[in-house]
Amino acid sequence: MTDTTTSGLQPFHVMEILAEAKALEAEGRSIIHLSAGEPGAPPAPEVRAAVRAVLDQPQRYTPAKGISPLRLALSVHYQRQHGVAVDPERIVVTTGSSAGFLLAFLAAIPAGGRIAVTRPGYPAYLNTIYGMGFSPVEIPVFAENGWKLTAEALRAAHEATPFDGLLLASPANPTGAALDRAELDGLADVAVEIGIELISDEIYHGLDYRASSPSALEHTNDAVVINSFSKYHCMTGWRVGWMVLPERLVRKTEMLQQNLFISAPTLSQIAAVAALGATDYAEAQKLAYRRNRDVLAAGLTALGIDGAPGDGAFYHYAEISRFSNDSMVFARALLRQAGVAAAPGVDFDRIEGHRYMRFCYAGTPGEIDEALERIGRFVAG
Ligand SMILES: Cc1ncc(COP(=O)(O)O)c(C=O)c1O
Repeated sequence: MTDTTTSGLQPFHVMEILAEAKALEAEGRSIIHLSAGEPGAPPAPEVRAAVRAVLDQPQRYTPAKGISPLRLALSVHYQRQHGVAVDPERIVVTTGSSAGFLLAFLAAIPAGGRIAVTRPGYPAYLNTIYGMGFSPVEIPVFAENGWKLTAEALRAAHEATPFDGLLLASPANPTGAALDRAELDGLADVAVEIGIELISDEIYHGLDYRASSPSALEHTNDAVVINSFSKYHCMTGWRVGWMVLPERLVRKTEMLQQNLFISAPTLSQIAAVAALGATDYAEAQKLAYRRNRDVLAAGLTALGIDGAPGDGAFYHYAEISRFSNDSMVFARALLRQAGVAAAPGVDFDRIEGHRYMRFCYAGTPGEIDEALERIGRFVAG
């Protein structure tokens, strides 16, 4: 019998590039990694010290919603960073934002419902939607418009194919596009007008190169906000993130969390409290990313790989159509011939992504410089 519910599920192609990169490294080749979306640096020293201090104690499950010090510290963060009062009772600590998506969909979207996402977008959105038996509605966004979803496009997409929720990241992966307050407010207003849930993925907050990204919570208490310690705080492997929920969804989400995950990892929650106090370290990482962003965008453009630098996150999404019409073939050749691992656009956009590549610039400045030299030699033939 054909399984129709998960038939849109696809592999994460960059994982194949990553596996080949590791194999080449094992053979002694030097590989520069611009593929995976994660910082090269460890978390802040305070984070490591906080964990070391409790390593000898038993680490039991925590309450499902997370430890109180962390939920209180997150509430303070919203007051300081966004000027909004968030009751810690509305905060649920999660196993990364990835778990937040599962909880958000199950709590807020009717079984089998439709969830809108942008194309290009983070690949796990589509795969999680398919994998859980929901259906995606992809709304295309365009380079000419800074890769931003507009209120008009949201309304028009809903008129064409009604959906139950919108999952939106700003700053976005893979484009780095970040919405300003008016743009985000416009989308939130349309969400109310057409009666859909707004799920705001704010995982790249803090990694802004123009202006600070507004939270959906500045406009409404009725959005589901998802965030994580993975990116800004250099904690991808710690698997800890959080959600801020509308009152009406708190209890349901708590019950889902109790049963699906019990609680987020205890040590990582302790580490997360320390991370919230270590913004100087996170800002220092961001300074290096900003330099990398500018150098990479200028360098690639000079080589004929066109793309504007993103507003936030740590990705450069650029067009390779001068060199190839198949981003997976391009990615493989770039890896094998030049020793640079980067992500093929088909991961982020199943229709137009064959013309694009995503380069992650969360590594060291030296790695970015060396990558540019290698890519230059590669495209010169
Ligand atoms: C837009 C976006 N959301 C969520 C995630 C998942 O992050 P986490 O480590 O918090 O599960 C990623 C990871 O790359 C991402 O790019």
